[in-house]
Amino acid sequence: MNDITILAVETSCDETAVSIVRNGREVLSNSVNSQIESHKRFGGVVPEVASRHHVENITTVIDNALMEADVSMKEIDAIAVTEGPGLIGALLVGINAAKALALSHHKPLIPVHHIAGHIYANHIIEPLKFPLLALIVSGGHTELVIMKNHLQFEVIGETRDDAVGEAYDKVARTIHLPYPGGPHVDRLAAEGQDNLKFPRPILDGYDFSFSGLKSAVINTLHNKQQKGEDIVPEDVAASFQASVVDVLSQKTFEALEHYKIKELIVCGGVAANNGLRTRLTQMCKDSNINLHIPPLHLCTDNAAMIGAAAYFYYMNNVRAELNLNGKSTLDL
Ligand code: KG4
Ligand code: ZN
Repeated sequence: MNDITILAVETSCDETAVSIVRNGREVLSNSVNSQIESHKRFGGVVPEVASRHHVENITTVIDNALMEADVSMKEIDAIAVTEGPGLIGALLVGINAAKALALSHHKPLIPVHHIAGHIYANHIIEPLKFPLLALIVSGGHTELVIMKNHLQFEVIGETRDDAVGEAYDKVARTIHLPYPGGPHVDRLAAEGQDNLKFPRPILDGYDFSFSGLKSAVINTLHNKQQKGEDIVPEDVAASFQASVVDVLSQKTFEALEHYKIKELIVCGGVAANNGLRTRLTQMCKDSNINLHIPPLHLCTDNAAMIGAAAYFYYMNNVRAELNLNGKSTLDL
């Protein structure tokens, strides 16, 4: 069978990313321009700032990806792009760049769902085995998805309010940690005690809710301040993280047991969390579940994961017309 080489573009949030991926697994280049430094002073991603940076950077990132891979546009079989969900202005920059490439070089255009990309990040490391359960935990998403075959997604649970990474970033701000706060909270948590008794928000079914937990953290800090009590940031981080890890691991294991699934993929930026990794590793060992967590550069937003998923869309003849629009929300 002929090789299929895809140029993939991802601009759904604050990373301008382009990757060349062969046959869904071989990453020839993975070029990422992160805007984190520009958003730091605002304490979060500012959509308008993100769009402007994408416009400034996209052509350079495309050129870099082609150069690094040492391939010409002639060798590219298709152009893939994240269609949604994401920040609409940010998505549109990637989509328009992808359309321009597809039109001028006469290549098919493939629309890819961002969450499908996160799951297929793992396919780059080892081929996906079905049935699988994927826990997607990032700044924008908290979802439990079952896959029984390629491109067959069943979302069984999702957050009803804040994404888990968003909750991490907000809690980090209350204890004066820089954006993005998740890694800092994670680091502090290792030095603190789970002694603040934060709630474990467990909903019926497999949905999540983190805004109540975030409010509990803020209220506890406020009460302590009013009473003149010491706030130990390490304990705030450890107590918050203990609650998050309890909730995520409990729901994930309920789903694995109920659906009798033995393959678990954890992806998205929060998959880097040490508390979550340690707990899931132990639980998976105890229950004979195969745990797969892609390396960090494939967990956070990147275009290689979009190129990996796009291979299967391509083989299934999924194509977009040149009137493709970005979608801030999009069902999987
Ligand atoms: O997947 P990602 O790079 O971007 C989105 O699609 O959102 O995830 C970024 C999120 C941020 O909220 C960041 O604080 C969080 O992942 N994060 C962490 C850790 N590393 C990154 N959260 C908890 N613990 C970590 N070690
Ligand atoms: Zn993402």
